[in-house]
Amino acid sequence: MLFDLSGKVALVAGGAGYLGQAICLALAEQGAVVMVADLARERAEALAADIAARGGKGHAVELDVADEASSQAAVARTVADCGRLDVLVNAACFSVGKSLDDLSAEEFDRANRVNLTGAFLLAREAARVMPPGSSVILFASMYGLVAPDPRVYQPPMTPNPIEYGVGKAGVIQMAKYLAVSWGERGIRVNAIAPGPFPNSAVQQQHPEFVQRLAGKVPLGRIGRQDEIAGTVVFLAADASSYLNGATLSVDGGWTAW
Ligand SMILES: NC(=O)c1ccc[n+]([C@@H]2O[C@H](COP(=O)([O-])OP(=O)(O)OC[C@H]3O[C@@H](n4cnc5c(N)ncnc54)[C@H](O)[C@@H]3O)[C@@H](O)[C@H]2O)c1
Repeated sequence: MLFDLSGKVALVAGGAGYLGQAICLALAEQGAVVMVADLARERAEALAADIAARGGKGHAVELDVADEASSQAAVARTVADCGRLDVLVNAACFSVGKSLDDLSAEEFDRANRVNLTGAFLLAREAARVMPPGSSVILFASMYGLVAPDPRVYQPPMTPNPIEYGVGKAGVIQMAKYLAVSWGERGIRVNAIAPGPFPNSAVQQQHPEFVQRLAGKVPLGRIGRQDEIAGTVVFLAADASSYLNGATLSVDGGWTAW
C-alpha cells in the first residue's frame, strides 16, 4: 500500500508547532508510531496524548535542535522507546523578526544555529540509526526560493526576516547534499518549501494581512494545515520511493509566477 506507514517510526522535530501538529496526526493516522519532539515539552506531551486518544501511537520528548547533545538524546530515546527510526521530519524553526538594520550578529547566528546547523546535526544523528528505506524530510520555505514582497508586510506586520530566508535557502541545498551522501545507504532526503500557512492566531488577528497573502497565490487563498501533512505522508511513504534530493513547493503556486 503506497501510503501505509504501519510498522514505521517517525520522529517529528517541531512536532508541537502549527504545521507539526497536523503532520504528527497525519503520520499517526497512516499507522506510524510518532515521537513528537519539541522545545515545548508540554505541548509535545499533550499532542502525544491526543494521538493516543485517537487510537494512534504517540510519544513525546523535549528537544532543542540547536543543542547537539539534545538531538543525540532524542534519537536515542526514539530508538529506545519505539524500537527503530524510519522517518525524520524537521519542522522546527527560529527567527528573530527584527528589521535588517537592527539585526545583530548574535541574532543572525542564533537563527542559523537552529535552522541550518540544527537541521544538519539532527539529520546526521538520525541517519546513523536509520535502516535502508528510511526518509528524511527537511522544512525549507518559499522564502528560501524567492524574497518576500515587502508590500505584503505592511505595519503592524513585521517584514519576513532575512535570517529566516537565507537559512531556508540553505536547507534546500542541504537536502541535495544529504541525498547524494546517503543514497547508497538507502536513505532518501527531500525538503518541503511551504507557501503561506499563517497560524490560527494570525488568521484571526490580521485578516487584511491574510488577504494580501492570498492575493499573491495563484489559487487565491492561504494553505490549510492538512495540505502540508499530505505531502509529508507522501515523502515518508513508499509512494515516493524514487524521490531523492528534491524540494517540493507546497505554495498554491506562489513561486510559479
Ligand atoms: N507556517 C508557514 O507559513 C510556513 C511557511 C514556510 C515554511 N514554514 C516552515 O514550516 C515549519 C513549521 O512551521 P510552523 O508554522 O508550524 O511553525 P511554528 O512556529 O508553529 O512551529 C515550530 C515549532 O518548532 C519548535 N521549536 C522552535 N525552536 C526549536 C528548537 N530549537 N528545537 C526544537 N523545536 C523547536 C517550536 O516550539 C514550535 O513548536 C518551519 O520549519 C517553518 O519555517 C512554515
